[in-house]
Amino acid sequence: MNLDIDFKYKELTDELLKEIPFTPDIAIVLGSGLGDFAKNIDLIKSIPTSSLPGYPKSTVHGHEGYIHFAKCSGKNILIFQGRVHFYEGYKLNECIIPVHITETLNCGKLILTNAAGGINTHFSPGDLMLITSFLALNLKKELTELIGLTSIENRNSFINLPSKRMNQIIHNAALEEKINLKEGSYWFSKGPSYETAAEIKMMAQMGIDSVGMSTVHEAIYASIRNIEVGAVSLITNFAAGISKEKLSHNEVIETAELAKTKFEKLIKKVIELS
Ligand code: HPA
Repeated sequence: MNLDIDFKYKELTDELLKEIPFTPDIAIVLGSGLGDFAKNIDLIKSIPTSSLPGYPKSTVHGHEGYIHFAKCSGKNILIFQGRVHFYEGYKLNECIIPVHITETLNCGKLILTNAAGGINTHFSPGDLMLITSFLALNLKKELTELIGLTSIENRNSFINLPSKRMNQIIHNAALEEKINLKEGSYWFSKGPSYETAAEIKMMAQMGIDSVGMSTVHEAIYASIRNIEVGAVSLITNFAAGISKEKLSHNEVIETAELAKTKFEKLIKKVIELS
């Protein structure tokens, strides 16, 4: 346990522990516009995050705040519908609340999903991408505050980030479902504005494949807490300057809507194989 975070959310997790119908086998965080996944599975119990003391409130369209307990592909699953972002003004110790809850409920596997801009020119809006590496260079100060430098071990805990086993499962799930799953790196952008064309050009020259405003800190924190973590991006748009189109959050939500059947198929198979 991380004692500071444990203490901060003690009332919340005590409240939640009274309500849980089962110990989850796997947890999932649903990204922008991907919340409908929760509508198409067997929900056992849904808890609005607003009823949990101290749960940060999402202010972004496409991020309804619920924690669902559900059955899917024969597994007990925990779903976080709605996330809070750094760009909303939250601290990282608030953004990682789903990971903390996953750990507190003794669940050792986590799938993170998000919407991301495509930088790799072989990617198109609507593609799914397995995240094979995370770049969090512009988040080091905040990550240090979150994790602290209290333990030398923490400095080496990224060896299995993302989890090789989990990534293999996601890869196999895509093969079984005949889904063309791209693979690539994900650059964390602090937001809230989208990147400039010049920033994207720099990232492209560095070989970065995608960009988004979430997930990296959740994955890093999960890996430090010894939770097996894998992550999938839905490429919702060409990153700034890659196409002539102007970026908008509506485009992100619209593309997510179009790709959701494929996304749901992949995630259900991942759950089955996990
Ligand atoms: N940039 C940053 N975050 C995003 C994007 C983008 O182009 N698309 C979806 N989330």
